[in-house]
Formats: sequence, structure tokens, C-alpha cells
Amino acid sequence: MNPRRSASEAHEKIPTLIFDSSASAAASLAREVKELIEAKNREGKAAVLGLATGSTPVPFYRELIRLHREEGLSFANVSSFNLDEYFGLGPDHPESYYRFMCDQLFDHIDIPKANIHLPSGTVASDQVFEHCRQYEEMIDAAGGVDLQILGIGRTGHIGFNEPGSSRESLTRRITLDRITRQDAAADFRGEENVPRFAITMGVGTILRAKKIALMAWGENKAGVVARAVEGEVTDAVSASFLQEHPQSRYLIDQGASRELTRVKLPWLVGPVRWSPQETRRAVCWLSNSLKRPVLKLTDEDYNEHGLSDLLSEQGPAYQLNIRIFNQLQHTLSGWPGGKPNADDTFRPERANPYPKRALVLSPEPQDATVSMGSTLDRLREQGHEVKLVSMTSGSLRVSDAEADKFASILLELGITAPASWKEQTEYAQRILSLLESKGAFGEDPLELRKLKALVLRGELRDSAQALGLPQDRITFMDLPFYEKGRYRRFKLEAEDTAHIVQLLREFQPHQIYITGDAADPSSVSALCFRALKEALKEAPSDGPCSVWLYRGKEKALEPWEIDMAMPISPMQLELKARALTRYTSLTSMELEATKTNQGTAQAYDSLGLANYEAIESFQRWQS
Ligand code: F6R
Repeated sequence: MNPRRSASEAHEKIPTLIFDSSASAAASLAREVKELIEAKNREGKAAVLGLATGSTPVPFYRELIRLHREEGLSFANVSSFNLDEYFGLGPDHPESYYRFMCDQLFDHIDIPKANIHLPSGTVASDQVFEHCRQYEEMIDAAGGVDLQILGIGRTGHIGFNEPGSSRESLTRRITLDRITRQDAAADFRGEENVPRFAITMGVGTILRAKKIALMAWGENKAGVVARAVEGEVTDAVSASFLQEHPQSRYLIDQGASRELTRVKLPWLVGPVRWSPQETRRAVCWLSNSLKRPVLKLTDEDYNEHGLSDLLSEQGPAYQLNIRIFNQLQHTLSGWPGGKPNADDTFRPERANPYPKRALVLSPEPQDATVSMGSTLDRLREQGHEVKLVSMTSGSLRVSDAEADKFASILLELGITAPASWKEQTEYAQRILSLLESKGAFGEDPLELRKLKALVLRGELRDSAQALGLPQDRITFMDLPFYEKGRYRRFKLEAEDTAHIVQLLREFQPHQIYITGDAADPSSVSALCFRALKEALKEAPSDGPCSVWLYRGKEKALEPWEIDMAMPISPMQLELKARALTRYTSLTSMELEATKTNQGTAQAYDSLGLANYEAIESFQRWQS
């Protein structure tokens, strides 16, 4: 399928379809698969699908299952070849791609087991070469892949073809890139547990497919999608090789489209309707690219950089600059809960009521401290009734070592008074033997998961204490979807929303803080946000209630996206850094939180605004 390209897509070297949501993209692709299977059936042939794992294809697989159940789509005449498998993991390993495919698709459709193919993760090292050769042969013997489904890694990999993979590469064993291993760290409870190798189809193998569809969701993928779609063909981004395939295309959601020229710099590729946000973005971009403060931009600067339209509509530069400067200036406020008795015409948050009931929702326990620790501190200090809610237990993030540490201490304490510590000692012994029997990669039994949740609760309490937030302001919600699921495969249910509805009814917040849905739609933060949106529909607040979005693991907000910028002094930043040290399970990205805050402050400074030490930033949610 090669949709006609408009001028705005001139920079794109692969047809790229931007959908409203991952769900609608997945539904469109699933429908195409249905048509392919039916067409092949009519020819009396099997359809051969190339399949991917990871979070990206999950909504697509759910839709295929729905088509099977509700529309009678049969997979009896389908063969499948998966892209890759972790080396060293057997088919029963909870994180093996074989197990993933069974859980997410194969166990729910009528595909014959004999038609399913994945590289083996347990083939002996000296057999790898032969195994890979045979995999290639099997694909050819099946008539080649009719439709190859792909996701894209942040390194630009397709399959596990990490940077450096050549166009001609075939199925082989490769070493996983550090970023890829970081991205898989949550699945394996720590980067150190992620396998170092995988067997993957090569770029050449993938390019032999008759058609290719690559899906990508969320802002975290936006940068690499833009490089693959608009950049040169290079082995540094293996997804860029799809530019050389006549029947390949990208299906992406809004988040993943954000760095494409037509979305990011639309004025460079066509006429633009200058909404306030688009205007703010253009001015910030100009100031950034010329490394000149907003107030110093000239008419010529606008004209010479593709913004003559904007200038003629809203200029001269002097007036436009002042207007945007003032808008940016008005986002700055050290009063996140609103400043009592002040004129709030140009303040991000309304003055009344004061104090406010501020509901701070943290999808996983650490999220709020990481992204808005200083704002939490400020809200409390300014007398608001803060309620910090950890929406999920986060137990899957806690390493075995932490549980082991706790059980070992308990065991040692037991030695001091064997009679009165009998039950506790038995508990500790049970935990230690559970840890041993499940092994480094095994699924945590319930008792262990509970202990890990308690470890993280303790860490959240410690960090809140460092921020001066009393224990009775913290609530642990343990949303069921998290307790029942695993990373990448969580499924939200009505009971999750029901818990939030109850919280909203009881607390009646005046303002809510939560991470938005900029990240991968299957992430814990995106699911929690979705549950909140549902809950707000069911339990709308009596009076006005502002919803402020903060960024968690995703890219920080850009100045033009920020509606409230909360300045942080050097001392407050130290306090936040200290609060963060209370968590043992932060990812490298989360550990950088204070640097991210400093980066936002520098961005404001470069635009010509006040030079603060650091800034926590928020976006107003427009429902
Ligand atoms: C998976 C695969 C990988 C993933 C990529 C994106 O079989 O081959 O290329 O598609 O790492 O992973 P997610 O979808 O989890 O972001």
C-alpha cells in the first residue's frame, strides 16, 4: 500500500500513516491481515506472517483475537515466523518470546502449533549457525513472508538488528545494545538480569518479506521514528533500511509522530493554522535555533526561517515576541496550588479555594517523587491538603536482592530469640527458599510479590518523609490490573476505574496531578491515566478541578508545552535528590530527574526568562 503523499510529507522517505491512537492503527492493520488471510484462502494457499514481540504489537494481537472470536477469522491456514528470541531462555521462561507469543496470541486463536516458528533460545552455541541457516530455509520453504509486522527499538533496531547490522544480514546471534537492555530492565527486574544475546532475523531476512508494516507508539519512539523515516539509510538505524522496500510503511500514533517535520516544524512544509500553541512553539523554535532570546528576534529572523506567514499574521516581531514572552513568563509560578489573595488572571492555578485538596497520583510509587518531588514539598509547605496516592504497588520493579536482604535480616533476628520469633523465622525461611526455587528470572509467587510491594511502600514512606510529607497523607491503592499482570501485558479492567471513582468521591480534589499518556500506551502510567479519565467521567467533581500532567519516564516537556513551571532553588533540589536516594529501584533515567529539572530551567533561561536552578513542569489537561 503506497498512499499518495502530500507536500507536507515531503521529508518522509517511507509512507507514514499517523493515527489518532494505537488502537485505531492496530485495528486497521488487523483488518489488513484478515483480508490477506482470506485472499490466500481463496487461492488455496497459507498466509505467512512475520511476527514481532514487545509492547508495540499487543493491541494488534488483541484485535486479531477479537476478529477470531467475534468475526470468525480462522488462522488454521496461517504460518508464522517470529523475528527473534532471547538467547539462553527456554520456551517456558516467563520472559521468553515463545511464552509471550502464546500468552498474547497463539493460545487464543486456532493457529496449528506446527505452523508456529521462533528461533530457539536454547540451541547449543556450536549449533547456532546451523540453526539460523535452517530458519532462513524454513521461511523460504513456506513461500516467504507475506506480511512482516515490526516494532522499533529506541536504537532503531528492527528485530534485534542493533546499530551496525548490515543490509544483507541474515538470521544470526547478536549482542544486545545497552539501551535495548535498559528498556527491557523492568521485564527482568533489573538490567543485570537481561540476557546479553539474542537470535534475530537479519535486516536482509526482513527485507525479503513481500510487505512490511512497522508500528510505533508513544513519544519515546518519536526521535528514532523521525530518523528512520526522514534520515539517510544507514546501518546506524536499521529501521531506515525499510526506505529501500517498495511495500513498507509505518503506522504510528500521535506521540510517535512528534518529531516528524510535518508535525514538529509544519511551517517548513506548508501553510499552518496559527493556534496559540503552534505560535508559541514556532517562536520558541526560532529562538532556540538562532540561540537568541525571544525578545531579541527580528522581523528578518522570522522571514528568513520559514515564518513569514506567522509574522504577517501576528507581527511585527516586536509585538509577537512580547506576547509570547509574557505567555512563557506567566507559566512560572512558585505557587502550584494557587496564590491566596492574589490576582490570578495570569497565574497557572486559580487562587481560590485556599487551601486546596491536592490529589497527587503516582502510577508507580516512585513516579511522583521523581517528577514532582519539589512541587509536593511546596504544596505541603503552602498549607494545602496533599494526598499522595501510589496507584500500583510497583512490586515488579523490586529486585530479588531486596527481598533477600529483608528475609535474611529477619532470619538473623530470629536467632536472638528463637522461641518468640518462630513464625517470623519460618516466614523468612519460606521467602529465601521461594527466591532460590524460582531462580533469577522466574515469576514471583504471590507471597514474594507482597513482600516486594512492602519494600517499595517503605521506600515511598522514607522519601515522603525526606520531603516532610506525613505518613497519613500517603495512600496505597494497589490497582488490580498491576497485581494481575506483567510489564507490557497489563490489561485495565472496570474494577481499576472503580477504585479511582471511590477515591475521587471521598477526597473531592480541587486539583489532581498525574502522569499523562505521552508514553507507550501499554505503560503503567498511560494505563493509570486512562483509568483516571474513565473515573472522572463516572465521578465528575462538584466544583472546578484542574488536572495537571507531569512527565514520568518520558521526555521532559518542552517550554512551549508547559502551562505551569515550578521553579526550584538549589536547596530544594538537594532535598529532592535526597528523597530520591530512598528508592533502591530507580532506573538510570529516573536517577537523572534533577538533571532533567535543571535542563528545563536552562531552556527557560535560553529563551530569555529568569535563570532558575531547576524547574518542574506541568501541562494542563484539556479533557
Ligand atoms: C521484538 C523485536 C523488537 C521490538 C522493539 C520494540 O520481537 O523484534 O524489535 O519490536 O524492541 O519493543 P517494544 O514494542 O516493546 O517497544
